[in-house]
Amino acid sequence: MKRKRLLVAGVLMNAVLLGACMGSDDGTSVTEDAHSSAEPPSNDHTEDTSETETNFGQEPTEEAGLTLDMEQDILTPSSLAVLANKQYSLEEDYAPEDLVTVEVPTVLEDPEIKQMRKEAADALKDMFDAAEKDGITLFARSGYRSYQTQVSLFQNYVSNHGEEAANKYSARPGQSEHQTGLAMDVTSESVNYQLTEEFGNTPEGEWVRENAHRYGFIIRYPKGKEAITGYIFEPWHLRYLGGELAAEVHESGLTYEEYLAKKGLDIEIAE
Ligand code: DAL
Ligand code: ZN
Repeated sequence: MKRKRLLVAGVLMNAVLLGACMGSDDGTSVTEDAHSSAEPPSNDHTEDTSETETNFGQEPTEEAGLTLDMEQDILTPSSLAVLANKQYSLEEDYAPEDLVTVEVPTVLEDPEIKQMRKEAADALKDMFDAAEKDGITLFARSGYRSYQTQVSLFQNYVSNHGEEAANKYSARPGQSEHQTGLAMDVTSESVNYQLTEEFGNTPEGEWVRENAHRYGFIIRYPKGKEAITGYIFEPWHLRYLGGELAAEVHESGLTYEEYLAKKGLDIEIAE
C-alpha cells in the first residue's frame, strides 16, 4: 500500500522553495500518452519513516496535528484540492466516482483518457468554448488515467528513455494527478496535437496560460519550477482546482506546492 509523509513540525520549505531549477532533458518533447505497455516502477518513496506518517486518503489524526481544513483537503483523494505528487501518493485502488467523458474535441481514441470528474469536465468545456470564441481551438489529449495505466505509461518511458529521464516528465504510478480525474493535457493543431514545450509559445498555449484560471485550472508544472514540482515545464498539463483556489494559486505566481506552503502547510517537497 502506498504511503505518504506529512511532516507535522518545523518549517522546512523555504530552503527548498528557493532551490535552483533542474535542467531540461530529452523529455521536453516527449509525448505524454496513455498508449504504452509494461510494468511497475522499480523504486518507491517510502524510504524514511522517521516522521509521522499518514495513509493518504485517511482522515488526519489529532496526534499528527493535522487540524486545518486545507490539510485534510490535500490528503483526501476525492477533494478538488488533493495534492498528488512525488511525495503524496494516491492509493492503487483509488478511482474517482464521478468520471464522465469530456465534451470537447479530443485527439486519442482510448475512452479512459477522455474522462475527467464531472465538475472538471464541465469547466473544461466552458474553457474550450470560451477559447473558441476568441478564435482559439484547443484539443484534449489525456485526462483520467487509472493507476494501472500509469504503471504502463511510466514503464514504457523507462524502457525508452531510462528511469532518470522518465522521472522528470512522467509520474510514477500513484503520483499522477491524472489518477485524480482532475487533470487534462491540452494541445493544438499548431503543434501537431503533441504535448511539447513548444505549445507554450503558440497562441493556444498563451491563451491557456492567460485564461485557464478563470475556469478553475492551473498550469501545474510551470517553467522554472522544476526543482519544486519535480517535473519539466509542461505548458499542456492543466489541473482543476475549482475557480476560487485556481485563481488564488494563479495570482500568487506560485506552484501549488509553494502556495500550500505559504498558507502554512508544512509539506515535504524535496525529491
Ligand atoms: N506528466 C505528469 C507529471 C504525469 O505523468 O502525471
Ligand atoms: Zn498531464
